Amino acid sequence: MDGNFNENDISRVVEADRANVWHHLIQHEQFFTGADPKIIVEGKGMRVWDQKGIEHLDAVAGGVWTVNVGYGRESMGDAVKNAIVKMNFFGGTVGTIPGALFAEKLISKMPGMDRVYYANSGSEANEKAFKIVRQIAHKKYGGKKHKILYRDRDYHGSTIATMSAGGQDERNAQYGPFTPGFIRVPHCLEYRKHEQDGAPVENYGEWAANQIEDVILREGADTVGALCLEPVTAGGGVIEAPEGYWPRVAEICKKYDILLHIDEVVCGVGRTGTWFGYQHYGIQPDMVSMAKGVASGYAAISCLVTTEAVFDMFKDDSSDPMNYFRDISTFGGCTAGPAAALENMRIIEDENLLQNTIDMGHYMFDQLSALKDKHACIGDVRGKGLFLGVELVADRETREPAVEKMVQATVGDCMKQAVIIGATNRSLPGRNNTLCFSPALIATKDDINQIVSAVDGALGRVFG
Ligand SMILES: Cc1ncc(COP(=O)(O)O)c(C=O)c1O
Repeated sequence: MDGNFNENDISRVVEADRANVWHHLIQHEQFFTGADPKIIVEGKGMRVWDQKGIEHLDAVAGGVWTVNVGYGRESMGDAVKNAIVKMNFFGGTVGTIPGALFAEKLISKMPGMDRVYYANSGSEANEKAFKIVRQIAHKKYGGKKHKILYRDRDYHGSTIATMSAGGQDERNAQYGPFTPGFIRVPHCLEYRKHEQDGAPVENYGEWAANQIEDVILREGADTVGALCLEPVTAGGGVIEAPEGYWPRVAEICKKYDILLHIDEVVCGVGRTGTWFGYQHYGIQPDMVSMAKGVASGYAAISCLVTTEAVFDMFKDDSSDPMNYFRDISTFGGCTAGPAAALENMRIIEDENLLQNTIDMGHYMFDQLSALKDKHACIGDVRGKGLFLGVELVADRETREPAVEKMVQATVGDCMKQAVIIGATNRSLPGRNNTLCFSPALIATKDDINQIVSAVDGALGRVFG
């Protein structure tokens, strides 16, 4: 930027962006053949304004399931400002006031969990968990119990190690070779069970969990250290595990002494109507990672939360100079994250947003399901709380997936109506056919009506 930059000159901003910013997940040629990059200028509640002053209704909480309490919260800004002016940062070998207080508050929402490790992205929190598994393997099992199981269609981050635990082959394409020791287990999407060899008509949930046991036995239980799962698969198509799945998963982990790591990066802090997604299913994880909704994007923060039993393994013998978690995340020492996260939780509690998420989630589910009568292209509506997916098909009978171009055209049509929705994209070969919705937890019936009406119109135009 030169000294003449005028903040109000938005066309200058657009040109600066076009010339110098490398956007995430986007092919840039379009910005040199007519299209302008989109600049989001302002946000308030559920709505954002772009460089042309066009108001959009955001049905995906900042595009990637993040802004749970909505935009433009002054109290979030105040919390961050007060924290950073007093003490902005110190490396994580020491504590800070917001760090200690948020850890205490977070643990109060997670019975059975005890320790909070701070970092600053979902990928990084997951990597911490992977490193813990590997270190325990070395400490207790001569390095043998080091394998980490992950599930087909799940996603755990953008780094090479987290992509090694990534169940989305198209997303992973061209980024190998990957880290050894990550082993895939099958997905548990009931709507697509006909594509899985031997899947039964009944008790699919238990069957899908038993597939994990088969993989453990094939690999050797003494080589498997952890199982990493999303509570509701997000970018892989909004997949809630069927009845019977989670109790069996917990049983299997216990039986083979395998740590259960739940990736709550999307579901964590309210998205599904409970503080954490796993809390719907009565299971007790050993490790829980979280990021996006923890501070609703007002500051960067991620946490890996563990049980005291996991933590104890790193403090039980201080005579061994290697016996502690030898890991650091520089920006895990920023106070802005936990300060914002504390205020974020206060807002969710004071405004009763978990209940709103349940109520509005049911309402939105019903509204989207009602579109089935009108649009044969809707194969399945699913999800939990304000985290919903609509799987589009070319043929409802055979469940042949809709082609990705048409799914993207639906998203594009909604954008033209100034409603921002999401869809699985370039992730799963031939299965990028699910529309994704994750409005802020403050959504009202009016907001949802506007979203559903945009989808209704778009499906009519795109699929006829
Ligand atoms: C389930 C899940 N885990 C981890 C991540 C990675 O988080 P981050 O992009 O903050 O590294 C994501 C991101 O979308 C995610 O959806």
